[in-house]
Amino acid sequence: MTTVPEDEWRERAAALADMLGELGKLTDPAWREAVRAVPRHVLVPRFHTQDTNGTWVESSTSTKEGRAAWLDAVYSNKPLVTALRQDAEVGRVVSSSSQPGLMTRMLEALDIRDGHRVLEIGTGTGYNAALLSHRLGGENVFSVDVEPDLVDLARSRLAELGHAPTLVAANGALGLAEHAPFDRIIATCAVPAIPWAWIEQLRVGGTVLTDLKITQNAGNLVKVTRTSEHRAEGRFDPTYAAFMGLRHQPGGPAQPVTRAARDSADVHESTSPVDPQTPWKNMVVWFLAALDLHADVTIGYTGPSTTSPPTAVTLSTSDGSWAQIALAGAHGLHEVTQGGPQRLWQAVENAHDLWNHLSRPDWGQFGLTITPNSHTLWHDRPDSEQHWTHLTEMIHGKRWAKQL
Ligand SMILES: C[S@@+](CC[C@H](N)C(=O)[O-])C[C@H]1O[C@@H](n2cnc3c(N)ncnc32)[C@H](O)[C@@H]1O
Repeated sequence: MTTVPEDEWRERAAALADMLGELGKLTDPAWREAVRAVPRHVLVPRFHTQDTNGTWVESSTSTKEGRAAWLDAVYSNKPLVTALRQDAEVGRVVSSSSQPGLMTRMLEALDIRDGHRVLEIGTGTGYNAALLSHRLGGENVFSVDVEPDLVDLARSRLAELGHAPTLVAANGALGLAEHAPFDRIIATCAVPAIPWAWIEQLRVGGTVLTDLKITQNAGNLVKVTRTSEHRAEGRFDPTYAAFMGLRHQPGGPAQPVTRAARDSADVHESTSPVDPQTPWKNMVVWFLAALDLHADVTIGYTGPSTTSPPTAVTLSTSDGSWAQIALAGAHGLHEVTQGGPQRLWQAVENAHDLWNHLSRPDWGQFGLTITPNSHTLWHDRPDSEQHWTHLTEMIHGKRWAKQL
């Protein structure tokens, strides 16, 4: 391990805390103190970046420049890829140390108080578990990761720092029943639905904060509070954020995807005024659209060749539905070609109309009510008339119930 003198890392950690403060992502003095006190470099002794060809390169501290670049990155507000698995010679990201500013924003949003017992889903490097342990004492911190090797590494690095939170290698979708109840649950991986096990393991009045993504880009951080034995409720965070998806097995794909062949005999052509890049540029509309589509919808770009710029956006689902929307538009209209059992782009157009009808709401105007068998999305207030989507029927029945 590369040794870093105490005064050097303390200066860098203090500078990181100051920077997060200036960015408005760290305001609570207790969390500020935690960021100053945790040597992130011990938990992130190396990371991986992709070069211009897409090849993964590991950081190196063997030269003076390499060491400086590593320390600069570790004490910056950057997410760092820390674990890869090789799949057919392609490196797939299985873990990262999240952006420190996102972590502190989430920790502050959770309103964690002295004596709270906190469960984290997604231990990763253990950096967040270290912040929590510094703030609450390791005896109040529980963290689970599906990757046993990461849990072992995090445990030994945290021990080096004098922290001994309870770390468990397991599928965090099930929570950690043997250590419940918790006051707070923070998930640093995205889930397609909030597992009822998490709500059950919270004290009434306790809160869970997680990234809810029903498919790629379709969802956001949501904070729900257990209001009674059988109910939890809360709003989406106003600011968009994204985490890697929860996997049910070590190294497993976040979402197994199967594709049916395209039936090119059944092609429907139209034009659309909606921006083809909506799935990347207007995630609220994309989320509303995804509620109407199969949860396994994938998005991408296509073009005449792999070396030329893309000319169209593509959507596809495992039932063989597909849509292609031209990026270029004439008079604000984009050519659309669709096929298969569902008109995928039509769902995006409908969602766009609905969003306009609701006066273009942002994430903070949407919320969720969760019961043991249902997720209900609402707009404005839980009792508002725009109480239109029972996610459970749409997603639990199709996918969530099977997976979680
Ligand atoms: C963004 S990283 C977590 C970052 C971490 N909190 C930190 O401070 O370094 C997401 C983590 O979620 C883990 N993960 C994925 N699926 C999981 C599951 N079913 N249960 C628990 N952890 C899971 C991944 O292995 C990965 O380490």
